[in-house]
Amino acid sequence: MDSFGRPSSCTRLFSLTLQEPVLGAIRKTSTQPHVNSSEHVSATISRRDFAKASLLTAGAFAAAPWESSLKAAEPGTRRIRTGVIGCGSVSNQYLPVLKRCPFVDLVSVADIRPERARKQSEAYQVPHHYPSIDAMLSGEPFEFLIDLTDMQAHEAINRRALQAGKHVWSEKPIANSLEAGQQLLRLALRRKLRLWGAPITVQSPQFAFMARKVASGDLGRIAAAHAFYGHEGPDWSSFFYEKGGGSLPDLAVYNLTSLTGLLGPVRRVTALLSIVTPERTIHEKGKIQVTEEDNAMVLLDHGKGVLSHVQSGFNYFNPHGHDGSGEKRHTIQITGSRGYVGLVGYDWAPQGVDWATLDRPQLVRECTEPGGYIWQQGAALAAECLATGRELLATPEQALHVLEIITAARASSASGRTIPLKSTFRWPLPV
Ligand SMILES: NC(=O)c1ccc[n+]([C@@H]2O[C@H](COP(=O)([O-])OP(=O)(O)OC[C@H]3O[C@@H](n4cnc5c(N)ncnc54)[C@H](O)[C@@H]3O)[C@@H](O)[C@H]2O)c1
Repeated sequence: MDSFGRPSSCTRLFSLTLQEPVLGAIRKTSTQPHVNSSEHVSATISRRDFAKASLLTAGAFAAAPWESSLKAAEPGTRRIRTGVIGCGSVSNQYLPVLKRCPFVDLVSVADIRPERARKQSEAYQVPHHYPSIDAMLSGEPFEFLIDLTDMQAHEAINRRALQAGKHVWSEKPIANSLEAGQQLLRLALRRKLRLWGAPITVQSPQFAFMARKVASGDLGRIAAAHAFYGHEGPDWSSFFYEKGGGSLPDLAVYNLTSLTGLLGPVRRVTALLSIVTPERTIHEKGKIQVTEEDNAMVLLDHGKGVLSHVQSGFNYFNPHGHDGSGEKRHTIQITGSRGYVGLVGYDWAPQGVDWATLDRPQLVRECTEPGGYIWQQGAALAAECLATGRELLATPEQALHVLEIITAARASSASGRTIPLKSTFRWPLPV
């Protein structure tokens, strides 16, 4: 048993900055890809997400039920002066966690829609707000930038921040191509800065349990894996459907991170991508044309005979809406010659691991406790790294490898060829 009374096979992976009751409350009041931005949620009040999402929006923040159960900062804890750029939907998920993280001092927020920056600065008592990255960088000093802007904007903003001497946490993707991402990483290394990218599925105890199971040999020779994730697609911003967007970097990225973490770097990729819904209606914008894939089937060769498959898209019937806790299926399945392991629920909100072997063929469920993990905490954990010197399991090298898989999947689908990959990352992860 660990110090929290959990079985050692399912221990927490990182010193958490928030106590379990806090994390539990955030889990309960949050949904994942995707929660509508507060103004849009208000416009679609009939959605069942509303009650949950709105608990994390401006008005409700002060009254959040978990507020009184927060861990105080250790005396002498270094707080990292932090700026958040992009005050849309996902900022409602990040800001409550950052606000309560004892390693974070929230200094500024920014958005090219200045009213959004102002609103979040008021809601989360962030002293400064700015209408652009340039204004933010020349304003109140800070050392750590959290980039929550449109997927297509990340690369330029991350570069700008690194050039200005800031550490960076970026929502996915870190950049628009492997080459650009590697340049950013080299820039960071040269300047002794840190660069990280979402997602952090490899930080969950369920991931660690599965990784240990795979490594233990209990499952025999690992042969194949399948993973899936999808929903009906966001309706609050068009960038998800435009060039540089798509369901691969928005959704498949979670499964690709988990599978490469579990089975190792990928040698080559074959994929078929399609657009199922060519026209969508986006809030405040009306009808838009979908130009990037909203449906993806990706085959991965991990070497040594291990093959896996990710299926992902924006046209997936999802009876649970965007609430991850409702998903009880095995969304990641790994099969070996002597056993099977399946992740219960999504990898960004895992609920347990089922496994069986030839010797014990009935599925047994383990690792049902969150163990301190929530998907929204990546940037807070990164701040903890900056303050304490700890390291995350999630690395920029793996994030860039996943980015290369995504661009290779597009090249494969367009050409009908299997695409060899160049990048890699340190594997197995030290779970
Ligand atoms: N919404 C979610 O639940 C969710 C979950 C996980 C990850 N993500 C990721 O988070 C990122 C943002 O998604 P979102 O749903 O919050 O989108 P969003 O459209 O709701 O918010 C993006 C915000 O960034 C701002 N922005 C765009 N370009 C900018 C620039 N150059 N400078 C400053 N601000 C700029 C926009 O004005 C907008 O307010 C994406 O990478 C997405 O994949 C979103």
